[in-house]
Amino acid sequence: MNRFARISAFALALLLTVAAYAQVAPVTRAPAIAPAQAILAHNGMVVAQESRAARIGVEMLDRGGNAVDAAVAVGFALAVTYPRAGNIGGGGFMLIHLAKENRDIAIDYRETAPSAATETMFLDAKGEPDPAKSRNSALSIGVPGTVAGLALAQRKYGSGKLTLAELIQPSIDLASKGFAVKDDLADSLPRAHDRLARWRSSAEIFLNGGRPLREGDRLIQFDLADTLRAIAQNGPNAFYQGPIAARIADAVVKAGGIVSKDDLASYRAVERPVVRGNYRGYDIVAMPPPSSGGVHLIEMLNMLEGTDLAKLPREQALHVEIEAMKRAYADRAMFMGDPDAVSMPVAGLISKKYAESLRAGIGERATPSADIRAGKPDEYEGRNTTHFSVIDRDGNAVSNTYTLNFSYGVGLVAEGTGVLLNNELDDFTAKPGAANAYGLVGFTANLPGPGKRPLSSMSPTIVLKDGKPFLVTGSPGGSRIISAVLQVIVNVIDFRMAVDKAVSAPRLHHQWQPDQVLAEPDFPPDLLDALARRGHSIVPTEPHTSANSIMVTKDGYVGAADRRTRGALAAGY
Ligand code: GLY
Repeated sequence: MNRFARISAFALALLLTVAAYAQVAPVTRAPAIAPAQAILAHNGMVVAQESRAARIGVEMLDRGGNAVDAAVAVGFALAVTYPRAGNIGGGGFMLIHLAKENRDIAIDYRETAPSAATETMFLDAKGEPDPAKSRNSALSIGVPGTVAGLALAQRKYGSGKLTLAELIQPSIDLASKGFAVKDDLADSLPRAHDRLARWRSSAEIFLNGGRPLREGDRLIQFDLADTLRAIAQNGPNAFYQGPIAARIADAVVKAGGIVSKDDLASYRAVERPVVRGNYRGYDIVAMPPPSSGGVHLIEMLNMLEGTDLAKLPREQALHVEIEAMKRAYADRAMFMGDPDAVSMPVAGLISKKYAESLRAGIGERATPSADIRAGKPDEYEGRNTTHFSVIDRDGNAVSNTYTLNFSYGVGLVAEGTGVLLNNELDDFTAKPGAANAYGLVGFTANLPGPGKRPLSSMSPTIVLKDGKPFLVTGSPGGSRIISAVLQVIVNVIDFRMAVDKAVSAPRLHHQWQPDQVLAEPDFPPDLLDALARRGHSIVPTEPHTSANSIMVTKDGYVGAADRRTRGALAAGY
C-alpha cells in the first residue's frame, strides 16, 4: 500500500479519534484571553508558569549562577509548586544557547518505554487501541528522565558557581515547609480529583479527607522533600538506583505497570544536535526528534517565508498559516518517531525546496485534509506540560519544556517518594493510524518498543539574530504546542508585535486530522466567517497553550508571562 492509500484506509479510524480529540471540545462562551504580564530587566529574566519557581530562578541568577543553573533550579522547583506538569517523574527537553562559545545544545530527557514494552502493549483483546491502558493505567508510565536531564545540564553547562545541592535546596524547603495553594494549582486540583483519588499515596498529598486542596490550604510534601534531599546530596544516581528507584519500580508494578529497577538504572539523558532553520534573516534553533516540534516548526516557517504575511489582509495571512500547519502535521503523522529507532527524512522536511513544493499546493481555498498526503522529502486536558524561558546577563539562554503528559500524569505518586508519575507512553501510536489523546495520528514510525522514546510535540525554541538570542519561547498544550510557537514567532517577526502582544494574541490550530481549525476566543467573528467561506471548518475552543517567552530588545530583556493560565510570572533583576 502506498502512503496515500495507507492514510486513506485509516480515514474511518480517524473519525473515531475525534471523540478523543473532543477533550478540547468546542465551547460556546469561552473566556477571553488575559493579557500577558510583561516586564523589562537588564541582568536576567525567568518566565515560568508558577511564581515561586520563577523567583527561585532569579535568585540563582542573582547569586552568580548562569541561565542553566537558574533553569535547573526552576525545573526542580516546579516539581514542588506546579505538580500538574512540573516534575521529576516525567521528562522533557532543554535547549541551551551558550553565548561565549556561540554554541547550541539540545538535551533530550524524554521518558523511555520500559524494556518489557511491546508494539502491541496498548491494544485490547480484539487488537484495537485501548486508551484505558495507554492513558489511565500504570502501563502508560515511562521511565522518568527529568532528574537525569537537569543533572546533566547542571554538570556540563552550569556556571560551576552553584552546586546541584544549592540549586535544589529552595525546592526542598518548599516541599518540607509547604506553601499556600493558589492560582492554577487551586484551579487544576479539582479537575484532577478522580485521577488522584485512585491511589492512597496520591490522595494523602493532594486531597484532604477526599476533597482537593483549595486556595489557601497548605501543600506539604515530606516524601518529595526527602527524595530531593537525596538527589541534592548524592546526585542523580540517588534517584535512578537504590531505595528511591526500588520504591518507584515497586509502586509501578503494584499498580499494574512494567517499569523495573533495571529500567531506571539504565536511563540516560542524551545530547543531540539541534535542528536549525532560518526565517527572514533570523536563525531558528529548535529541538530535534524525538520532539517533532523543531522539525515541523522549521517546515512551517519555510512554507510561510515565500509569502509576505504582513502585506496580506489578516484573514488571508491566517489562511496561509493554517494551510502550512495542515501540511506539516500530515508529515508528522507519517514520518516521525524516536531517532534511535527509526530513520526520518529530517533534512528533507526542513529543506527550503521541499517547503516550496508544499507551498505550491496552497491556494485561495482550504485544502481538505483528506487531499493532503505526507510529502516525499527523501489532549485530555490541555495545559498538561509546562514551559519556561531563561536568559542571563551574559546572553546565555535556556528554553525548557517538560511534562507528565496529562495534568498530574497518571495520578500515581510512588509510595514513600512523593514522585508523581507520568503517563507519557500514550504519546506512542498504539496501532498504525490510531490517535493519541491529542488526536495526533501516527503510523509505524512511532509504535511502542523497549527503550523507545515516544514522539513529542514539545518545542522549546531559541531564535537568534546575528548569533545572539532574540526570542526564547515554547509552550505546553499537547498537539497545539508547535502551532502556538509558530504563531508567537510569526507575530514577532512578521507582524512586529511586542512580545507580550505576540504571546496574548489569540491562536489558531490545525493538526491535519481532524480537519478543523481550533480558534481561541478574541478573533473577530467576521474574520472567522471569512475563513469559513474559504472552506475552513472553524471550531471555537478554550485557550490551551501558554508561551512564556523572553525577547531581547534594545532596551533590555522583556519577559512575557502567558496569562492563559493563572499564576505565570516573568521575574527579572
Ligand atoms: N506529552 C505531550 C508531548 O510530549 O507532546
